[in-house]
Amino acid sequence: MRKATWGLLLLLLLLLACVATCDPSDQDQNGDEKGPRRRGHVSVVVVGGTGDLANKYLWQGFFHLYATQVGKGHTFAFYGGGLSPADKGTPLLFEILKSQTCPEELSAERCALVRDQFLRLTQYWQLKTEEDYQTLGKHIETQLGQEGMTEAGRFFYLSVPAFAYANIAERVNRSCRPPQNAWLRVVLEKPFGHDLSSAQELATQLASSLKEDEMYRIDHYLGKQVVSQILPFRKQNRKFLKQIWNKHHIDRMEIVLKETLDAKGRISFYDQYGVIRDVIQNHLTEVMTLLTMRVPKNLTDCKEIDQNKLKIFSAFHPLDKGSAVIGQYQSYNSEVQLELNKTKDHLSLTPTFTGIAVHTTMPQYEGIPIFLMSGKLLDERVGYARITFKNNVFCVQDPNSVTCKQKQIVFYIGHGALGYPAILVSKNLFRPALVGSRWKEVSEDKDTLLFGMPLSDYYIQVPTVQREAYTELILQVFRGRMDHFVSADSLLASWRFWTPLLNSLAHTFPRPYPGGAANGNQLNFELHGREVRFCTEALVNVIPQERAGGESFQVMQGKYRSADMVSAWAEELVERLANDLQEAAEEAVQEGAPFHLALSGGSSPVALFRRLTQHHYAFPWWNTHVWLADERCVPPSEAESNFRTVHDHLLQHARVPYFHVHPMPVQLNQRLCVEEDGGALAYERDITRLVNASSFSYVLLGVGYDGHTASLFPGTALDAHGERLVALTESPVKPHQRMSLTFAAINRARRVSVLIMGKGKHELVTQLSRIKDTPDRWPITKIQPVSGRLVWYIDYDALLGQ
Ligand code: BG6
Repeated sequence: MRKATWGLLLLLLLLLACVATCDPSDQDQNGDEKGPRRRGHVSVVVVGGTGDLANKYLWQGFFHLYATQVGKGHTFAFYGGGLSPADKGTPLLFEILKSQTCPEELSAERCALVRDQFLRLTQYWQLKTEEDYQTLGKHIETQLGQEGMTEAGRFFYLSVPAFAYANIAERVNRSCRPPQNAWLRVVLEKPFGHDLSSAQELATQLASSLKEDEMYRIDHYLGKQVVSQILPFRKQNRKFLKQIWNKHHIDRMEIVLKETLDAKGRISFYDQYGVIRDVIQNHLTEVMTLLTMRVPKNLTDCKEIDQNKLKIFSAFHPLDKGSAVIGQYQSYNSEVQLELNKTKDHLSLTPTFTGIAVHTTMPQYEGIPIFLMSGKLLDERVGYARITFKNNVFCVQDPNSVTCKQKQIVFYIGHGALGYPAILVSKNLFRPALVGSRWKEVSEDKDTLLFGMPLSDYYIQVPTVQREAYTELILQVFRGRMDHFVSADSLLASWRFWTPLLNSLAHTFPRPYPGGAANGNQLNFELHGREVRFCTEALVNVIPQERAGGESFQVMQGKYRSADMVSAWAEELVERLANDLQEAAEEAVQEGAPFHLALSGGSSPVALFRRLTQHHYAFPWWNTHVWLADERCVPPSEAESNFRTVHDHLLQHARVPYFHVHPMPVQLNQRLCVEEDGGALAYERDITRLVNASSFSYVLLGVGYDGHTASLFPGTALDAHGERLVALTESPVKPHQRMSLTFAAINRARRVSVLIMGKGKHELVTQLSRIKDTPDRWPITKIQPVSGRLVWYIDYDALLGQ
């Protein structure tokens, strides 16, 4: 653009400064004036500027940004970037730009003027090669220099597939980075990875080009007006909520995104992701954290928000296969065959529907089920988060009176029966304060029932002006409000939480459903303990069973190293071990004795702990003593501590009396495992004192690749332990120092189980089946209870290596 034209434009911009309306949203929720501190010129580059998202939402957002901000000391230039050359890209871009609508508060006259300006300030720019980015960088500099403008910052919106991020970020860093005193903000869209490791990889790649405070990871749900008001609502209404926002009052939380559309046209993306990665890991998880995290003192402090989010992530119970049900609409497979060019026998396992139950260990919410549900091709389009409360009132007469009705708070994100975003509080709860000056209370006489209650039974508040999520978020990027975006830490925490579930479902066949109203009750699911199941049996089981072979193949019994062996697929094996353990515990209790259980460290028992705490409600924990078979010499608070694993996965969820819990005393006198401190002797004394004839009821062991069991390692002087029950031992790997039950203690037990799981242990299992007793080389071979019973629990992966 020539200098004269720029001069003219600047003049017009100044004129506009006088006519532009003040953007009411230029305030935070406390009404304080917000905005980027440094005034000046802003260059906006939309990479992928002629794509679908840009067409539908982004340019509308940028137009809104321009229309509301231009009069406030900023000047703008917009670049729509694309891979095509300018002669192809320019007409495409202008076709999109022409259709943008003005913010409601602008008069038609002003709107025409602003639109004209916007069109003049926008140009298409081919962004394909490194040189393209270099010329863009130079162009921005030249333009600033020629006009003598101060630069405020550069705003890149990467509306491109995620595989291109790292490369573009590198180019932006190398060729388009502004000088020190201006900001660089780069907006990225999901998907941010496919699982934890790919998300970590992407985060590392991006971090080599951009600083964390330059990356704005968008989750457009955070821009939905209702979602962005969840924390302000909780804060504004804390005087009512502080009594009831807990497990004593909340019955359940439901976070729902139902869609009527299918995945047609985007199968190449969708089939790799499926519903959990597409909307649960991000959108609905964000809502879940906003509902359950501690309300930050300062609602705009992204650090505090992040810390609180991370805390809640670490408090969620881990998920496994039983935590979710999945479905797939029936025509999905043929859509996949068509769009991905697959043959007729191609079978996709990608779920298009899911129902999930999440629980947290936070004392405040313990036991409250948080249901997350989403699906394509359902009966209606609607999004909401609904908190229902227990009702302690016993209605003797008149069940329709207000006190007898469901108490609930609904964050209605949009669509559905209501048709607009709103926050609703049932009138038998409290009359909520408005979340902000841009919200108003309305009374609805529409004859609509919402969750079984007429609208007149709710206090309803709605935004005075409805805004698109992208429009809202583009404004927040411009203001530098990172609290509306997803940080690297919380993104990774979310993937850390969801990845185990995704892995466990990877080979599961989703229940087929017809779509729309015809789904009837086929997708209804219910809670059993902490697990969910479909309420009805599948009508037609069109899907072949994954593991053929019938019941007899499920659990196999046999002999291994002359002792009994139980073998099955991992899940069934753990189920069986948990049943056997409970049986042994019940037997002990029936005999009137406590059940003394000694547990080893390692990851294999974690699945057992989970099984026990989620399914064995009748386990006699009250009569159980929990001992450790071995311990690493680290403080018990550290992740490496065996006690910590037992604590986190078992003791936190099982009602074992405190005085029945016996961690190994590895830390005495503020030091770790020092012989003179007598930790091993003290543990031995406790065993002698409490355990009848020092004979544990049950010892659970594992085996390491080198043949060690408990912390009895090959090549260490194990014979020297003699009749001692507990000893300090040495491990070849860190942490080297250990405390362990000795062979003498283990072999006195009434029952010893050795649990071996995973393909990685196949070699070991084969090797052990062949060798004689050679305790020096293979300590596990010395496990031979004197009068008790030894049982090996080996899963098929470890036994068969497949
Ligand atoms: C997107 C998903 O992130 O969110 C889509 O990729 C989904 O599959 C959409 O349809 C839902 O968003 P909204 O704003 O329509 O509720």
